[in-house]
This record gives sequence, C-alpha cells and structure tokens, in this order.
Amino acid sequence: DGDVVRRERFGGGPARGFLSSMSADERIFEADLAVDRAHVVMLAEQGVVENDEAGEILAALDDVEAAGHDALPDGEDVHAAIETAVIDSVGSVGGKMHTARSRNDEVATCIRYRLREDLLEVLEATLVFREALVEAADGHAETLMPGYTHLQPAQPTTVAHWLLSYEQAVARDTERLLDAYSRVNRCPLGAAAFAGTPFDIDRERTAELLGFESVVENSMDASSTRDFLLETVGALAALATTLSGAAEDLILFSNKGYVELSDDYASTSSIMPQKKNPDTMELVRATAGDASSGVNGLLTTLKGLPRAYNRDLQRATPYAWETVDAVREATDVAAGAVATADWDEGALEAAAGEGFSTATGVADALAMAGLPFRTAHELVALASEHAERSSAERSSGEQGDSRDGSDYAALDAASEEVLGDPLAKHVPREAVESALDPEASVASRDSRGGPAPEAVGEALSMARESIDVD
Ligand code: ARG
Repeated sequence: DGDVVRRERFGGGPARGFLSSMSADERIFEADLAVDRAHVVMLAEQGVVENDEAGEILAALDDVEAAGHDALPDGEDVHAAIETAVIDSVGSVGGKMHTARSRNDEVATCIRYRLREDLLEVLEATLVFREALVEAADGHAETLMPGYTHLQPAQPTTVAHWLLSYEQAVARDTERLLDAYSRVNRCPLGAAAFAGTPFDIDRERTAELLGFESVVENSMDASSTRDFLLETVGALAALATTLSGAAEDLILFSNKGYVELSDDYASTSSIMPQKKNPDTMELVRATAGDASSGVNGLLTTLKGLPRAYNRDLQRATPYAWETVDAVREATDVAAGAVATADWDEGALEAAAGEGFSTATGVADALAMAGLPFRTAHELVALASEHAERSSAERSSGEQGDSRDGSDYAALDAASEEVLGDPLAKHVPREAVESALDPEASVASRDSRGGPAPEAVGEALSMARESIDVD
C-alpha cells in the first residue's frame, strides 16, 4: 500500500526552478495545511473518504506542520510538496486528499486565507496610527501653525487641525481596506480546476470551516479571479499615498524647525556629525513607490488573461505580499514617529503669523461688516503688497520703525485708495485688529471641521468614536 508509483511526465528539467513557487509559497504553508484539513474533514463528512482514511491524512498533516516548511520534499509548489509528504507518510491513501479539488482552487483559497490575516494586521496598524494622530492632536488643539497651499504660507491653523486632517484620510483608508477584506473573505474551494466536480462536496462547509463568510459562486470565476488582490493592493496604495503626504509634511516641518522627530525615528550622517535627518519619514514617503509597483505589477499581469486558470497567476501573488508588508511597516513607523514627535510651539506660533497670513481673515471681517467680498479681497491684496514692500525696506535697514501696527496702517492706506475713506469708517478697528491676530483668527474659524479649538474638540471626539467602531 505504501508503494505508490509516481509518474512524472513533466518533471520540469532545466525549467524546474522557473516553474517552482516553493520559496514564495512559504507564506501560505500554514494556510495550505488549514485548507487541506478543512477539505479532508468535509470529504469524510460527505462520505467521499472513509473516516479512518481522513484520520490518517489529518495525522500526517500534523506531522508535516511540526516538521515545518523547510522540511518539505521537493515539489513544484507547496501544495504538491505537502501532498507528497502526506503520501510519503501514510502511503497511497494520502492521495485521496486531492479528491474533488485542484491546485487551482486550492491556491486561490490559500491566498485569500493568508491575505485575511495580513489585512487584519494592516487594519490594526491604521487604527494605531489614527490613535497616535488623535492623541497628539489632543495635546495641540491650541498650538498655532502656519497652514500652506502651493507650499506658500496661506492661513494660520493649529497642529491638531493638521493631525486630524490625516486621521480622517487614514479613516477612509481603513474603510477601503475593510471593504477589500469583505470580498477577500469568500471561499473558492470546491471550484476544482475551474469546472466543478462530480463528487458530492459541500462548499459551504469548507468555507465555514475556514472561517470564510461565503463562497465564490461560479467555479470558473472562483479559480481564476485575482481581482481581490488588485483591490487589496489598490487600497494599500491609497494608504501609502496618505502616508507619503504625512511623511512629506513632517520632513518639511523638520526642515523649518517646527517639529523634531524622536531619535528613534531619525538618522544621522556618516560624515556630518551635527546632522539629524528624518530618514524614517523619507522611507515612509518612498513606500508609495512599492505600492505603485504592486498595483502596476498586478494590473499588467492580470490584464487580458483568458479564462480560466493560467500560470501567470503564480507571479501575481507576490505583488500582494510585498505591498502588504511594505505598507504595514510604513504605517507602524509613521504611527511611532507621530506619537513621539516634539512640536516646537514657539517656532510654530512665530511662523503662524508671518507673511500677512491672516489676510483672508481680514477680508472676511471686512465682508462681515458689509463690504462685498471681492472689494474686501482687493483692499487686503493692496495692503499686503504695501506691507511686503515696507517689510522689505525695514529689513534693508532704511527705516527703523517697529512692525507693530504696520499691517493695520497698510490696510488703512489701502482703504483710502480703494474706498476713498479711512478703514475705521467701514469696520471697527478692534474687529480688524482681532482678524489680524493669528490666535483670534483661528478661534474665529469655528465652522464644522474648521481649526477653531472648539471645532477641533468635536472632531476629536468623532475621531475617537470612529476608531472604536472600526
Ligand atoms: N503554484 C500555482 C500558483 O501559485 C498553483 C498551481 C497551479 N498549477 C497548475 N499547473 N495548474 O498559482
């Protein structure tokens, strides 16, 4: 009974290594054992194999697991190698394991089984990152900072508002990953090569044993589709893009001295002893490249594949593993960097008011006093040109007067030019002074989702709630 004559018509010859997915398959070694067990249990329950035969196979699978992936005999892939190990151990009865299935539905099931685990880990990493963003925001609801558009100082905001902007973005990444998870979590097992099987199998039972939510219905689709890889990697690429933006901001803020990464998340130079570089954030930024190669690799590999299974699919799978590993690690690192970063409140506050950053707020104040917004915009634009010129003169030492009041003076002069009156005739001076003050300016922008500490407080509790729900 132990003498199985195994005839290998296609041994592979010189192309054997090329055909083999053995090393990449280490990732699905445990998954394959789980799939084998579920399948054998179902076959026994359905009376397709005898209970004692199933028992022998299951015991052999335990031995294979104990010996580990590295102890597997040679094989074209992990599925073939495990089957060989089982037959080596229990004889030809081991060959019953592959009844009513094919490696095509087997591998598709293994990938989904393992990918669920990886997706859960990366989902967990997004939650940890979101918590780090929320915790940091909690401590900086009133820390002013310059906000930028086109990388030019635009309007003052707060560190908390910046942090929460990323929390929201990562929350959507969590959502996309959960959405991908829901479709990864369907079981193709029982599709066999693509055309089903005459054996009386129970696909729902194996799906249940493996913890899948449902089955992939059509057997031809089930064995050949890899769209679940594509949408997973797509969601990961979106997350990597979010991370790269946050990393870029932190690199810029480090450059300006607004934030200092903890030593654990910085690196130094082998020649310039004074250097402290935000290398971890640069690597996080670069992870978008890994994700992009995953998306491109999958799209080009999957494009135009005919029905049903084609061996191209073997080369599609590693794109998913590489992307999920790279993005999970980058998410962990981003979370750690944010949780330990030190924000320089003095430098941030000073920068928040630079360059007539409150100009928009002043225009809003003029419009609130009844001027058409476009007129207010024109007036403030003119004032800001004046202010820029006089600040250039001051810094070249031609005039000694202090900067205090110069923004108001510039607005007043612009008012004479645009409206023909001093500004105070149109708007109370205090309203303008208040709009010119970065702190008051931020506090006034209390619209939903805005930077005012009040609005940020609400956003904080909403973010905490959504993290709990996710
Ligand atoms: N190792 C293959 C893969 O990863 C599965 C084997 C299917 N092989 C075959 N000749 N049908 O896709």
